[in-house]
Amino acid sequence: MSDTVSDTTAEADFVVVSNRLPVDRSPDDEGWRRSPGGLVAALEPVLQSTGGAWVGWPGQSDLDLEPFAFDGMELVPVALSAQDVELFYEGFSNDTIWPLYHDVISPPTYHREWWDAYVRVNERFARAAASVAASGATIWVHDYQLQLVPRLLRELRPDVVIGYFHHIPFPAYGIYSQLPWRRQVLEGLLGSDVIGFQRAADAGNFATAVRRQLGYETKAGAIRVPTADGARTAVARAYPISIDAAVYDELARRPDVQARAREIRAELGDPAVVLFGVDRLDYTKGIGHRLKAYGELLTEQRLDKTEVTLVQVASPSRERVTAYMQLRDEIELAVGRINGDHDTVGHSAIRYLHHAYPREEMVALYLAADVMLVTALRDGMNLVAKEYVASRVDGRGVLVLSEFAGAADELTQAIRVNPHDIEGLKDAIMTAVEMPVAEQRRRMRALRRRVRDHDVAGWSRTFLADLETARR
Ligand code: G6P
Repeated sequence: MSDTVSDTTAEADFVVVSNRLPVDRSPDDEGWRRSPGGLVAALEPVLQSTGGAWVGWPGQSDLDLEPFAFDGMELVPVALSAQDVELFYEGFSNDTIWPLYHDVISPPTYHREWWDAYVRVNERFARAAASVAASGATIWVHDYQLQLVPRLLRELRPDVVIGYFHHIPFPAYGIYSQLPWRRQVLEGLLGSDVIGFQRAADAGNFATAVRRQLGYETKAGAIRVPTADGARTAVARAYPISIDAAVYDELARRPDVQARAREIRAELGDPAVVLFGVDRLDYTKGIGHRLKAYGELLTEQRLDKTEVTLVQVASPSRERVTAYMQLRDEIELAVGRINGDHDTVGHSAIRYLHHAYPREEMVALYLAADVMLVTALRDGMNLVAKEYVASRVDGRGVLVLSEFAGAADELTQAIRVNPHDIEGLKDAIMTAVEMPVAEQRRRMRALRRRVRDHDVAGWSRTFLADLETARR
């Protein structure tokens, strides 16, 4: 919460550009609240110390606001009309790029009208960033909604240094090449000095696409981009994002949060085993696969239905996009079937919660969960996996983690699964449920060390250091 909101129009040496501003309108519509999430936590200190600005959409259509100061950062709102939201955000960003980049788990839709809106809105973001950046500023652009911004910015402001971080996967060439505007998107990204990806594989896929589509030379993450007077180098490499691990650790040590964790277990009827899943309600998360495996374990009586509960938090997301509406129907049908088959009057097989929760409650849920299920079919990183680990100050708990989540590269002491292999997933869940405490502790110790030593502050430091090198 903050009330330090005032008008400002300073020039900024450091500018962050992302689709969403790091604040939400509070429900009473009376002011702004900081959005949850690590990106704000990581970048806020940098913005505060440099007098930086953050350019983004305030999250509601037709909200045309002047720049304002918030907690020592200058926020520069970019207005989106209802039509922009439909064509640029719900359309091209979330029904073309999102499914395409997540290995076409859901079929991407290609509409020329959506592309036109994507170009138009990317131009608007680029102009807004160009207008607040001081001479020689550092500009850091984020994510798939804004892939054209780096090049547009370079045209508007050749004096600035431009970084881009891609929070989601970058697909293999055979998939990427479906995109009718594949060249324009690559050229857009190559406007950057440094292009960051979650996994080395994503950076490799990008370099391949650049070679095949544009014929540019790429060597160990350095890409030679031809210019009017020769060539410049763009760097493409992996910078796995993380969380503010200390915040989760601190919350998990708080007596009230620990008491809440015990209370959650009691409210669930003190089952012997609590399984936990938490995701945005998105088809990339493999929630259906998880439910299928769990339902079969109950039917086959490998899990004792009187002794186990799965808590599934599915936070509402992109609810006006058809694929998300269909997914919600499928998931809720599956939950209803499993509960109908296995519930008793006093006990539920699945507690399904279609809400988002504050961080304290999430940490209490992590502490209450014996087994955390992350079964994404494709995921850039999956920060829930890292949050679970950071919250287990007691050294207990088991993480089941999909090999298709970026986090699998780092969290090697998790139980690794291929969520498409339902039998394998069932076996992995049983291994997790039956894991001796000593082994839980051994694995959790290594996982916690990794997350503690590679937090989100380190991530942004490393990226920004490479950007400084690029400047020189
Ligand atoms: C993913 C994306 C973010 C996006 C978030 C929430 O994490 O990488 O760019 O902001 O999902 O999605 P939304 O469409 O609500 O912004």
